[in-house]
Amino acid sequence: MAEFKKADSMLEWFDQRLGVVNFAKVMMTEYWIPKNINFLWAMGVLLTVLFTFLVVSGIFLLMYYKPDANMAFDSVNYTIMQEVAYGWLFRHIHAVGASVVFLIIYIHMFTGIYYGSYKKGREMIWISGMILFMLFSAEGFSGYMLPWGQMSYWAAYVITEIFGGIPVIGDELVVWIRGNFYVADSTLTRFFMLHVLLIPLAIIGGIVFHFYALRFPHVNNEQGEFFDFDEEAEKYKAGDKKHSKVIPFWPVFLSKDVFVLGVFLIFFFYLVFFHYSFAMDPINFDKADGLKTPAHIYPEWYFLWSYEVLRGWFFEIAGISGKDLGLMAFGFANAIFLVMPWLDRSPVVKPANQRPYFKYWFWLMIADLMVLTEFGKLPPTGPNAWVGFGASLTFLVLFIALPFITKAEAGKVKGKK
Ligand code: HEM
Repeated sequence: MAEFKKADSMLEWFDQRLGVVNFAKVMMTEYWIPKNINFLWAMGVLLTVLFTFLVVSGIFLLMYYKPDANMAFDSVNYTIMQEVAYGWLFRHIHAVGASVVFLIIYIHMFTGIYYGSYKKGREMIWISGMILFMLFSAEGFSGYMLPWGQMSYWAAYVITEIFGGIPVIGDELVVWIRGNFYVADSTLTRFFMLHVLLIPLAIIGGIVFHFYALRFPHVNNEQGEFFDFDEEAEKYKAGDKKHSKVIPFWPVFLSKDVFVLGVFLIFFFYLVFFHYSFAMDPINFDKADGLKTPAHIYPEWYFLWSYEVLRGWFFEIAGISGKDLGLMAFGFANAIFLVMPWLDRSPVVKPANQRPYFKYWFWLMIADLMVLTEFGKLPPTGPNAWVGFGASLTFLVLFIALPFITKAEAGKVKGKK
């Protein structure tokens, strides 16, 4: 170990031991972000804040929650909601946060698609983002089971049942996941462990990796413009802030994010205090009963689109049953976003409105997801079933067509040059 000089300040003392000055430079004051980005680029920071809210409110809930099929329902609905001081507040923050985090994830994800932020060089950012999406989905699903109400129970039943469709091992797999032949106490305790320990740890790892992957290709911008970050940073450091195309993460970029965050928090706490019921299904205020199936079972709003892709196939085609077709479509829908960087064959990084074909594809895809979400909550009978089928088929066709559409678009752009 080199000999240490006596430090003149506390900062120097820490710097000698932990290199904090350099660390702050790399992470904040000399972490360069493009200038031409809008409020949609604040969604990542909003997600980080929401995840923190979920962890903190979850820790408070954990002090009173009982992971036992006989006690879970009462520990949530009586102990936490009525007996513990401000227990209701932590539950509302947790439930509203769990719902709103998906709204922001979807905005963040579709911003990435709109601006082509998954293209060459940024694949790892996209893939780590999709892994985070899957982890949040697992976290949302496992958490929904914990209050042990009727919807917790039956949604868990339906979703675990889906694994039964996997050839050969399906039936055994369902029993393995549930820890029993039906959804039971063993199911509750393992999902509790996943919800409070394993998945949050994986999410933290996922976020660290996502941030790390962002450092190399750098953040995209509104025009998809490529420029030399080092050169632009030198301009900024030399005082030519006006002509430099970058700004430092701290304090310039983050101050803009804090403004967006402030507006968001007004909306968030309005929901927490005045409109929390949207995040809590009324059927879930009845205790789980394995002998009483609710008339109509559906998942939380953020899973409705993929649930509708699953349900949309209700008749046999070419000897394959509707159930099997639905399962295949569901598998496709859940995997397809992951390979987005390779489905888009056009190398041009531009916002969708400047891409001749992709702009139609993008808005059609959003409209289709909205239809799927809307019909995913309705009973799948009569015309509803046919709309569900049409929207589910449209989803598959859109993604199968994407490589061809974007290839043709690339040809058109080249031709113009
Ligand atoms: C859920 C936890 C997530 C957190 C905390 C997070 C955080 C961030 C942050 C802070 C940024 C940089 C600034 C910004 O564009 O907002 C970012 C960028 C990005 N994220 Fe995420 N993200 C998450 C999930 C996702 C998901 C689900 C996707 C979709 C697959 C995704 C894809 C991307 C992409 C493509 C970028 C680059 C944007 C660009 O270069 O313009 N992220 N993320």
